[in-house]
Amino acid sequence: MRIAVAREADAAEPRVAASPETVKKMTGLGAEVAVAPGAGIKSGMLDADYAAAGANVTPEALNGADIVLMVRRPDNAALSRMKKGAFVIATMDPYGNDDAVRAMAEAGITAFAMELLPRITRAQVMDVLSSQANLAGYRAVIDAAAEFGRALPMMMTAAGTVPAAKVFIMGAGVAGLQAIATARRLGAIVTATDVRPVAKEQVESLGAKFVAVEDDEFKAAETAAGYAKEMSKAYQAKQAALVAEHVKKQDIVVTTALIPGRPAPRLITSDMVASMRPGSVLVDLAVERGGNIEGVKADAVAETGGVKIIGYRNMPGRLAATASSLYAKNLYAFVELLIDKKTKTLAVNWDDDIIKATMLTRDGAIVHPSFRPKDAA
Ligand code: NAI
Repeated sequence: MRIAVAREADAAEPRVAASPETVKKMTGLGAEVAVAPGAGIKSGMLDADYAAAGANVTPEALNGADIVLMVRRPDNAALSRMKKGAFVIATMDPYGNDDAVRAMAEAGITAFAMELLPRITRAQVMDVLSSQANLAGYRAVIDAAAEFGRALPMMMTAAGTVPAAKVFIMGAGVAGLQAIATARRLGAIVTATDVRPVAKEQVESLGAKFVAVEDDEFKAAETAAGYAKEMSKAYQAKQAALVAEHVKKQDIVVTTALIPGRPAPRLITSDMVASMRPGSVLVDLAVERGGNIEGVKADAVAETGGVKIIGYRNMPGRLAATASSLYAKNLYAFVELLIDKKTKTLAVNWDDDIIKATMLTRDGAIVHPSFRPKDAA
């Protein structure tokens, strides 16, 4: 059984899908592990570290591998080197990328999309969305604090008192909750909003104030899977009015609102940005799905009227070493599921809920019900 760790093709992706620690564990499962040279360099994980952990560091890593671990889905060059039937585990970003999903099917690989994991207790250890969103939330506040020309905590000095900064977090999921906790630790006055009613208690338990239109629609706004629903136009208008008033008084706004499989909801208009004091900073963590903030520019700090909008697409990648080590552990837990520890061979239970929920392609076809072409469904 051969497991390969790919080097990411996208230069803007500094993360890696296995760490020396997880390589060691995989060799313990009886696998031969091959790592592409330089795969972990941008995460501070050197070829020599992988070799010391038992890996074979080779440019041929992908060739003939039974399992391939990646951060992003394979491009055509990577696909052409994989054997038919190889299990490829990555964040596949399948929504709206039909051609790429088809290419994986045509290459004959069995592709697992880690972002489609069901949110069941057993899958938590594999949950790449949570491990990475948590870091994104932390880093968003650190980046905002760095761009902000003032201090975050209240300071009482001989030269006078510095007021605490006001920080507003929109979307209190995994990223938002970590952003709240980080901003609180830095001494800011923190408020937050979400459309899921359960978020209120979570926000308050972190010492922040909850701000939202709490009508009947809000009280029913959560799917069985624990995600947000797209809200009605009427609700969005009420929410926007409340948010507009609140945003005017904020120094820092971090938006994290996402709806799986849909474009990100637009929460902050240009007028709201213009209503903020010069020197204020916004961070849009939803930029990869179109953004929550009007005027956000991907991978840039946009500035209008003295207000900055941070739009880094790969926020977890800005903490590559930590992000990679957690992502690697998530993937290791998934790999364990594919292997029979006694015989040390691949043994997949195709009826497992985790396998069924994440498997995109198999035997030349797109098999996931959400992505199968309509005529084949
Ligand atoms: P996400 O990344 O899909 O969305 C981020 C946040 O944006 C969510 O809280 C969502 O409600 C919010 N949002 C969407 N539209 C909005 C709008 N118009 N205005 C304001 N906020 C809006 O969500 P994430 O972070 O993945 O978490 C969703 C839930 O799942 C959370 O409650 C989280 O704690 C839970 N979860 C459960 C796990 C489990 O294994 N049971 C694992 C990880 C998360």
